[in-house]
Amino acid sequence: MIKANLILYHKKPIKTTDFVFFPITDYKQIPKLLSDISFKFQQWEFPSRSKQEPIIESLQKEFPNINWEEISLKFDQLGEIAILKLDPSCTSLSVRQRVGELILSRSLRLKAVLNKNDIIKGAERLYPIEYLAGEKIWQTWHQEYGVFIFVDLERAYFNPRLAEEHHRVAMSVKPGETILDLFTGVGSFALHCAKGSPCTIVAIDINPYAIDALQRSIKKNKLQGDIHSIIGDSRKILRLQDYFDRIIINLPQKSVKYLPYAAKLLKKGGIITFYQFILKFENPEEKIRKLISKNLAHINSYKELYIKVGRDVSPSRVQVNVDLQLF
Ligand SMILES: C[S@@+](CC[C@H](N)C(=O)[O-])C[C@H]1O[C@@H](n2cnc3c(N)ncnc32)[C@H](O)[C@@H]1O
Repeated sequence: MIKANLILYHKKPIKTTDFVFFPITDYKQIPKLLSDISFKFQQWEFPSRSKQEPIIESLQKEFPNINWEEISLKFDQLGEIAILKLDPSCTSLSVRQRVGELILSRSLRLKAVLNKNDIIKGAERLYPIEYLAGEKIWQTWHQEYGVFIFVDLERAYFNPRLAEEHHRVAMSVKPGETILDLFTGVGSFALHCAKGSPCTIVAIDINPYAIDALQRSIKKNKLQGDIHSIIGDSRKILRLQDYFDRIIINLPQKSVKYLPYAAKLLKKGGIITFYQFILKFENPEEKIRKLISKNLAHINSYKELYIKVGRDVSPSRVQVNVDLQLF
């Protein structure tokens, strides 16, 4: 009946002791279709499937004094955790927790709803996390393009909005490459690259919890490449020259400042992929070119392979994604 498009989906079937009655669109087709099954026709007033009320409507009813149209209820889903970014100035904790409960009640896959504060702190780039609803968990397995990433929201930076970039970079890696990920966090770039190619990656982060998470992910994924993880300050650790085929710099507040250092570590013809925040009003493409030429003034020549003005990181700033080949 489903294949023949005979079921009325907006109505609920009715169960009696001996029968299940399905709401159907055209009873004349049934005898032919169900010739080897016993059935009967009966008229019912089938109940409608109750559509869940949208969260915003429930909230408007419960808290009519709050202007919900102005509050973003968008959230990122990391494995079993939903992470919101609610404006703390506009709602009380109990209201925020009610938002969390409603989100939780709408999804079978979610176990916890958390709220993150906008203010990122320290070299580790952590933001304070507030518990809203469900289980009190801050750790989860997140999947991006089939790569498992262990996420520890309380203690190590992770942003699911970088998934496409992780994938794009990994897709351009050739077998046998030696790669350096200067600010690896929980190791997303490294894991994507090692999953896709037999390459060697050195992944550095100053935050031991981030490297701990990376170690767990290395064990969980079936990787083709090798990842060597290091805890420490990536500017101070390496005493190499002309060594890497590719270097990834993802510390977007100041990635450009690391360009001269990366240039020294890179082989001739190697690629630097970096991410930099730029103010929108500055004409991001023009601005990034200026910053590159200023920081690579000592390099003979380089070629822009890719410049993309990417996601908005705040109302005033965007992230610019760049691949450069140095000669
Ligand atoms: C934007 S996050 C990296 C995100 C990661 N690349 C990803 O795609 O998921 C920046 C990381 O740089 C690390 N970090 C900051 N300063 C550092 C330094 N001097 N040396 C090494 N790591 C550093 C932080 O601990 C943080 O994990």
